[in-house]
Amino acid sequence: MLSSKVSQALNKQIELEASSSQYYLAMASWAETQGLNGVSAFLYLHSDEERMHMLKLVKFVNERGGHGVVPSLKQPPVTFKSVKSVFEEILKHEIKVTNEINGLVDITLKEKDYTTHNFLQWYVSEQIEEEALARQIVDKLKLIGDDKSGLYFFDRDMTSLATAEAATNKEKK
Ligand code: FEO
Repeated sequence: MLSSKVSQALNKQIELEASSSQYYLAMASWAETQGLNGVSAFLYLHSDEERMHMLKLVKFVNERGGHGVVPSLKQPPVTFKSVKSVFEEILKHEIKVTNEINGLVDITLKEKDYTTHNFLQWYVSEQIEEEALARQIVDKLKLIGDDKSGLYFFDRDMTSLATAEAATNKEKK
């Protein structure tokens, strides 16, 4: 059974994962309108992944006798300055998510909730991957700078990355 403190903290995380999904969905839609099909494919997938993170939490909370609450969400931005700014935002956002997960892990230790602590380890490893990937993409975009043909090839690479990510996600489920 979850303590009310852990239950509340997990529900806060549900909200953050849901808003991450919504945020990346807005980025995906914007990228699609810019003709960046590879970038948008990657972002649509990333948005789905965040929804899966949320769902995993909802189910865990319910299994442990709590109630996973579906939150209302703020509207995310509609347009973005550039592809680089999109991935910079993602990196910033993922660092925030990592901090929240760490805070959550800390709460479970204080509450001596070792089951939830164990469950959260999946999120701890996931965050290492998510941050590393976002960082890698931002570095690539820094190299490309304002080079239009560079961006064209980057978009093509993102299509392959999206395909590879889709395959990894299937394994993770
Ligand atoms: Fe679910 Fe990207 O953190």
